[in-house]
Amino acid sequence: MNDWVRAKVVGKHQWAEGLYSVQFDAPIADFVAGQYIKVGLDIEGERIGRPYSLVNPPQSRPLEIYFNEVPEGPLTPPLSALNPGDEVWLTATASGIFTLETVAPAETLWMLATGTGLGVYLSMLRTPDPWERFKRVILVHGVRLSADLAYAETLNDIANQHGERFTYLPAVSRENCSGTLGGRITDLLTDGQLETRVGVSIEPATSHVMLCGNSAMIKDAKAILEARGLIRHRRQAPGHYSTEGYH
Ligand SMILES: Cc1cc2nc3c(=O)[nH]c(=O)nc-3n(C[C@H](O)[C@H](O)[C@H](O)COP(=O)(O)OP(=O)(O)OC[C@H]3O[C@@H](n4cnc5c(N)ncnc54)[C@H](O)[C@@H]3O)c2cc1C
Ligand SMILES: NC(=O)c1ccc[n+]([C@@H]2O[C@H](COP(=O)([O-])OP(=O)(O)OC[C@H]3O[C@@H](n4cnc5c(N)ncnc54)[C@H](OP(=O)(O)O)[C@@H]3O)[C@@H](O)[C@H]2O)c1
Repeated sequence: MNDWVRAKVVGKHQWAEGLYSVQFDAPIADFVAGQYIKVGLDIEGERIGRPYSLVNPPQSRPLEIYFNEVPEGPLTPPLSALNPGDEVWLTATASGIFTLETVAPAETLWMLATGTGLGVYLSMLRTPDPWERFKRVILVHGVRLSADLAYAETLNDIANQHGERFTYLPAVSRENCSGTLGGRITDLLTDGQLETRVGVSIEPATSHVMLCGNSAMIKDAKAILEARGLIRHRRQAPGHYSTEGYH
């Protein structure tokens, strides 16, 4: 059983309209980068809880989540109205297997995210794990609008720390934006633009691909990767790609 613990909101940042990060202080158990906690609010006498990936690396506090408001959703409108000093509930123990723990070392780690799926990688990238297991790490962030390209400062710090071993590729699908790729991640995979841009190809022998965010993107990307010989990674049967669908 996963108990609820009280958490205090200690920070909040709005990146764009409807797009937020919120920080908490709470006594949760140790976690592994890539795991999620549930965040809960008591609304009209009922506890509404939803899973959120932790953005902070395991060794640092405060705890942080990154989310977008779903106007018709029960949790995200009140969640985005929280301010420092307010209280929420968090599950005491993080869950999830979208981690690097069982992934075999390889040449290249591809981290593909849509929307708030970026957050989970910001936790992993600030641990030694990806850098001990892979020679290169390529993070691709697919968003609708350039205003949704959050966490520039954190990404800059990671780039400064890891130099040429790290490549960040933003992709914007609904407007032209200089310095970014244009279109969906799946289209950029199909036409080879992603690989051409970094000069590295995605192959079963050399690559592990992580997919996080929109489930339709994951479904489409999975078909593209499987057609190229990559198989799903499982704890008991190691493969070449791992997934975490948010919606
Ligand atoms: C393992 C896991 C980890 C997750 N981590 C994150 C995270 O780090 N950040 C994050 O923003 N969300 C994350 N989610 C989604 C999150 O749990 C909520 O579903 C979401 O924040 C909406 O909550 P809600 O109560 O307002 O609406 P819900 O009742 O959860 O959903 C209402 C409707 O909106 C859809 N929906 C859910 N999320 C979105 C979205 N982002 N955009 C558009 N439609 C959506 C649902 O499919 C449903 O149809 C995660 C989900 C899972 C399963
Ligand atoms: N995340 C945010 O930054 C944000 C901020 C405020 C409000 N919201 C609201 O939250 C909802 C979800 O936003 P989101 O940005 O997370 O949306 P999203 O629909 O997941 O879009 C994020 C990126 O994924 C792409 N995508 C969607 N389906 C795909 C597929 N099958 N294959 C490949 N790529 C795919 C989108 O391309 P296309 O543009 O081609 O669909 C876009 O580039 C929306 O209602 C949005 O208005 C989001």
